[in-house]
Amino acid sequence: MEDNVFDIIADLYDITSPLKEDISFWLNMAEEYGDPILELGCGTGRILIPLAEKGYNVVGLDISKSMLNILKSKVDNLPNRVREKIEIVRGDFREFKIDREFSIVFSAYSTLYSATTQEEQLSTIRNAYKHLKEHGVLITAQFNPDIKRIAENAKFMTLDFSYQDPNGELIITRTSQTQYYPIEQTLKSIQVYDLKEQRKPLERYNIELNLRYIYPSEMRLMLAHCYFEIVDEFGDYNLSPLKDKSPNMIFVARKRQS
Ligand SMILES: C[S@@+](CC[C@H](N)C(=O)[O-])C[C@H]1O[C@@H](n2cnc3c(N)ncnc32)[C@H](O)[C@@H]1O
Repeated sequence: MEDNVFDIIADLYDITSPLKEDISFWLNMAEEYGDPILELGCGTGRILIPLAEKGYNVVGLDISKSMLNILKSKVDNLPNRVREKIEIVRGDFREFKIDREFSIVFSAYSTLYSATTQEEQLSTIRNAYKHLKEHGVLITAQFNPDIKRIAENAKFMTLDFSYQDPNGELIITRTSQTQYYPIEQTLKSIQVYDLKEQRKPLERYNIELNLRYIYPSEMRLMLAHCYFEIVDEFGDYNLSPLKDKSPNMIFVARKRQS
């Protein structure tokens, strides 16, 4: 399996992606729809581990060996009762096969946008369908594309993250410039990670992150096309309705009989 950009920045992922606001949303979804649960693109376990700690059986699928290695080392340090709830699978969510059916298949944090064509996104949704129990749900959470903001951001190189450890010995920054392609609905983000540790030379990592965003109306069609019935749509993790200015676009869709 080929390396992907997350292999390059895996060691920095937990520091540079400290999002916490969605965790209680995913715990509530698990409470409502039950387990077992499959996460597509689980990364270093930001959501997978809290789910397992609450007692849910989870499977995490990811293509990046380095992200999964970090997840595995975290899992090794968990108590037995949590560790036994977690299974880790390396695979590509566009074409995976796991011999099991789930109550929930989900993708968080705009991970579905990592499939960079509409066809790849559809094949991810079809695969989710195949891995769901009867009446199981697919839940996908991603940013709600705002073309004005995308166009505005594309004009500048932006400092989008900066971290300094409490002792002041390590500074990490991420700057990025994003180009956008409205016809394909793709974004190409050139990201530069700089690490400055005291008494060491600057380390720099450059990555190119490609995403394909989806509009709400297109998502509704894609889900219907793949035999899903939409149960809920939210515009943020507090379950507000999806509106023009919503930061996120979250769909809960139930498997229909094909
Ligand atoms: C933005 S990170 C999200 C990680 C985690 N879900 C979180 O919320 O912190 C996206 C993850 O998706 C994984 N990924 C990207 N494309 C993938 C694919 N085709 N199949 C499986 N995993 C993929 C990446 O390796 C990365 O770990």
